Amino acid sequence: MRDLLMVGVGRMGRPYVAAARRLGANVRGVEFGARAEAAAELLGGVHRARGGFDEPLVEAALGAAAERAPDAVVAFSEEHVMGAALLQDALGLPGPSLHASVLSRNKSLQRACFAAHGLPQPDFMVTQSLDDAEAWAAPRLPVVVKPLSLSGSRGVELVVDDVEYREAAERRAHESLLIVEAAVHGPEYSWEGLVEDGRIWFGNITAKETTGPPHFVEVAHRAAAELEDDVAAQVHRLAVGVIGALRFRTGLMHLEFRIAEDGPTIMEVAVRTPGDFIMEILGLSYDIDWFEMTLRLAFGLPLPDPPTRPVRYAASYLLAAPAGRVTAVEGLAETQAHCGVVQAEVKVAEGDVVASTSSSLDRVGSAIVAAPTRAALEDVLAFVRSTLRVRTEPLCS
Ligand SMILES: Nc1ncnc2c1ncn2[C@@H]1O[C@H](COP(=O)(O)OP(=O)(O)OP(=O)(O)O)[C@@H](O)[C@H]1O
Ligand SMILES: [Mg+2]
Repeated sequence: MRDLLMVGVGRMGRPYVAAARRLGANVRGVEFGARAEAAAELLGGVHRARGGFDEPLVEAALGAAAERAPDAVVAFSEEHVMGAALLQDALGLPGPSLHASVLSRNKSLQRACFAAHGLPQPDFMVTQSLDDAEAWAAPRLPVVVKPLSLSGSRGVELVVDDVEYREAAERRAHESLLIVEAAVHGPEYSWEGLVEDGRIWFGNITAKETTGPPHFVEVAHRAAAELEDDVAAQVHRLAVGVIGALRFRTGLMHLEFRIAEDGPTIMEVAVRTPGDFIMEILGLSYDIDWFEMTLRLAFGLPLPDPPTRPVRYAASYLLAAPAGRVTAVEGLAETQAHCGVVQAEVKVAEGDVVASTSSSLDRVGSAIVAAPTRAALEDVLAFVRSTLRVRTEPLCS
């Protein structure tokens, strides 16, 4: 029986398990803490890591492979990328490549690589303190400040002027490495591609909506986004350029970019499963299971013919609520009952305390929606937006 090792499963990675079983594979997982307990109920074996960050996850992944060499390895989320990449490299299994994985795990290394390849991206500077980068940043304001290896907008902030810069420098003096970038203007998108041996099997463009400045937390994704043909061609060329620069070989690539005045400009690239139900909305849009296709690539199994066009339109919606104590959760049953809603959930209940939305972790609910046309999709999204509500009242200090 084929053996799949998933470095990270989480909750959102569970469709991989179902897809692996359809392919007749045994599934083992590397996980940490409560996630390991949850995974143990689901999988044919769980290897417990001693921490939920890269190094202990690498340790557990290497241990899992020493016990039995898997036939395929996939990474789930950012902190799982290195464990999967090291194993793919050591065992000669299909994967994005160690080069692509190392770069994707560090926003500054990928910027250095893209700069050397002349790919479009903002001016940037990596620094050990914002004080040191002040002279560089001053003529480039507004700038975006972010940590090198976090995700979900954690620690990402737009700094618009000198006063804000000084304030951020003081507040973030304890952070030992940061990247400062010129702020790029223009609508935001991502490109999800299934890539086999450096060649794109299929690529999709997803429109991204965020809370905007200062933290840009993602609140909606619309798959199969419509772009002018020449812009879509520019995006394709950008994806090809990024694949080449990263020396990306095989697997799933998630490229984030803005369409600035002079064309698509890279925000960042990841070589792991995109979050926020993007895999699910891609599946709905094209009637192919992206989890299964990713596993087929990881096992070196044949792929079907790629899709030619969307069969429907799908989006995910992530609910953000004002900071405070939850006084009411409204409209969940009504939302779930709507024919355009595939699934909806709210993670908080009355009495819970909600933080202000500064990262993806602060969002309080989600919905996946689908419709036969783009216009109908917008109607469903508008319905969900106005129906599904988490009301809060400010906390007294
Ligand atoms: N240079 C920039 N110019 C304009 N906006 C930016 C810039 N860098 C980051 N952003 C905004 O901040 C968001 C988060 O940045 P980034 O993707 O680098 O961080 P992240 O923590 O990895 O986020 P995620 O994991 O959600 O993708 C971007 O999607 C974008 O909206
Ligand atoms: Mg990002």
